[in-house]
Amino acid sequence: MSSGKLKVTVTRRLPRTVEARLDDLFDATFHGGDEAMSPRALIEAAQSSDALVATLGDRLDEGFFADAGNRLRLVANFGAGVDHIDVVAANASGVTVTNTPSVLAEDAADMAMALILAVPRRLVEGVRALEEGRFIGWSPTWMLGSRVKGKKLGMIGLGRVGQAVARRARAFGLDIHYHARAAINPHVEKELAATYWESLDQMLAHMDILSVNCPHTPATYHLLSRRRLELMPASSYIVNVSRGEVIDEAALADMIAAGRLAGAGLDVYEREPKPNPKLLAAPNVVLLPHMASATVESRIEMGERVIINLKMFADGHKPPDRVILGID
Ligand code: DGY
Repeated sequence: MSSGKLKVTVTRRLPRTVEARLDDLFDATFHGGDEAMSPRALIEAAQSSDALVATLGDRLDEGFFADAGNRLRLVANFGAGVDHIDVVAANASGVTVTNTPSVLAEDAADMAMALILAVPRRLVEGVRALEEGRFIGWSPTWMLGSRVKGKKLGMIGLGRVGQAVARRARAFGLDIHYHARAAINPHVEKELAATYWESLDQMLAHMDILSVNCPHTPATYHLLSRRRLELMPASSYIVNVSRGEVIDEAALADMIAAGRLAGAGLDVYEREPKPNPKLLAAPNVVLLPHMASATVESRIEMGERVIINLKMFADGHKPPDRVILGID
């Protein structure tokens, strides 16, 4: 820290106000582009920085930390999910990892709710039909979807985003069910009138709509496997604004194509940026380009969290949003 300021490399373009603040407070270098940096460039940046402001798409794996050198002490991730960072390897190399929880939960929940409404009510199909000139006037039997009110919403994970989804879903008359590693705080469970299912398999067999709201970890990779997807009723829908890897996407695409599931609303994919081609071809699927947290407000607040973590670290304190493994 020759200038007395923390030497920070920012791997991707961030909102202007966030970059300006980073520039004021730290000895900051900005990659500036909207493309992920190459693995080589990331390692070189790490070798000459005290802290890296990384984000989704930066692959910070064991090999990265082995080559990152001794200077790097903090990876302040711009984002909540840290499945692109090998936190164990980071910690073993003496690097602290932080993220930006909470600030994007409400926006992500809005998008999940939008999909919960859009898929059963065939919103995007309707827009396409109109744009393509297939709307020839109101019909008693055309474009019939499925009523949302009164349906059972099964949630996988009921953390910050999940609870925000459940609050919205309650207002639309959905019954809340959830599976998580353990039942949540009884007060919250009561507020949401949520039913806990210890067995995911059993919950799946009884739900009308499923919302994935858990992080991607080794334990949740393909949690919705082909076998589990086959437990779901053929009339049910799946919504995912969390991480694509939680669902076996090829199995989901096969089942939708075969009419074994009624539809899906997805914001995330196993191999981003490319959704499975069968999903792209399915009319009853709404696909978004990983934009659930994409609001100006959330991006600025994410930047503020990053700055708080860097500042606390620079001042010799423990940054507040340290990623502690095993905590969802
Ligand atoms: C996150 O924060 O993990 C989002 O998926 C990226 O915005």
